[in-house]
Amino acid sequence: MKLIHNEMPVLGMGTFRLEDDIAYNSVKMALELGYRHIDTAQIYGNEAQVGQAIVDSQVERHELFITTKVWNANLNTNSFIKSVRESLEKLKTDYVDLLLIHWPSPESNEPMKEYLEQLIEAKNQGLAKNIGVSNFTIDLLEEALKTIPASELFTNQVEVHPYLTNEKLRAYCDSKNIHVTGYMPFAVGKVLSDDVIIEIAKSKGVTPAEIVIAWSLSLGLSTIPSSTKRSNLLYNLKGENLQLSSEEISKISNLNINDRQANPDFSPKWDI
Ligand SMILES: NC(=O)c1ccc[n+]([C@@H]2O[C@H](COP(=O)([O-])OP(=O)(O)OC[C@H]3O[C@@H](n4cnc5c(N)ncnc54)[C@H](OP(=O)(O)O)[C@@H]3O)[C@@H](O)[C@H]2O)c1
Repeated sequence: MKLIHNEMPVLGMGTFRLEDDIAYNSVKMALELGYRHIDTAQIYGNEAQVGQAIVDSQVERHELFITTKVWNANLNTNSFIKSVRESLEKLKTDYVDLLLIHWPSPESNEPMKEYLEQLIEAKNQGLAKNIGVSNFTIDLLEEALKTIPASELFTNQVEVHPYLTNEKLRAYCDSKNIHVTGYMPFAVGKVLSDDVIIEIAKSKGVTPAEIVIAWSLSLGLSTIPSSTKRSNLLYNLKGENLQLSSEEISKISNLNINDRQANPDFSPKWDI
């Protein structure tokens, strides 16, 4: 599997909304099928199940790339490192491969400089091999770069799928050499019933999901679809080996309608 920064498999498994046994079984199944990159977060409430599935899978720790994200309530200096240690305990590991700020601090209650310094401290303490951000806009990245050099930011994880191509932000990240991880590649399933995508899938004798994964990867992104079903997990993996023509890639990119799925009331002012 292709790696980003020589470490992170371009295709990971997302775990948002997966709870209890469903989280455990889905991650266990994914690891059996060959996934080696798992994306979780403190707020998903499933770090313990992800950790147990990893232990039970018997896959060697060094073969895995595990991401977790620090939740808004833990961005303050008192809670930050403590919360990361709690995540590690739940995940049953000494370190995560990637630690992200899940969202910029709502209404900037916590100064960015302070929580980015905590993020750097987590790395210095060996709790995270790599660090990055999520849901950061161009303005927020500009601010972040005053505290942390672009070369230290492993990724900016943001929503990208055919209905939200996020071109302006991606171009900015490219200009700074910041890798973009696209989340919600299927817009939580919506794009899989799109006529254009279905037509391309039919013409190639594959599933719409494979087309969407291949499209995401063709943009130079890494992507983290989630699934609870063995067959879907497998199709998503297969998407990595599918090549699309430049015409097919443009057709899919042209489906963009800025249809954002993850837009909580504490979201930053998005780039359009
Ligand atoms: N940083 C952030 O703020 C943030 C925000 C949102 C999400 N994320 C990350 O991104 C990951 C992905 O997002 P998501 O889980 O919300 O949405 P998604 O991956 O776009 O879509 C998941 C949905 O697609 C279905 N699906 C998956 N593979 C399929 C296939 N091959 N064929 C048909 N249906 C398929 C799944 O159903 P089945 O289970 O039935 O397969 C599920 O309903 C999350 O799990 C999370 O790790 C990060």
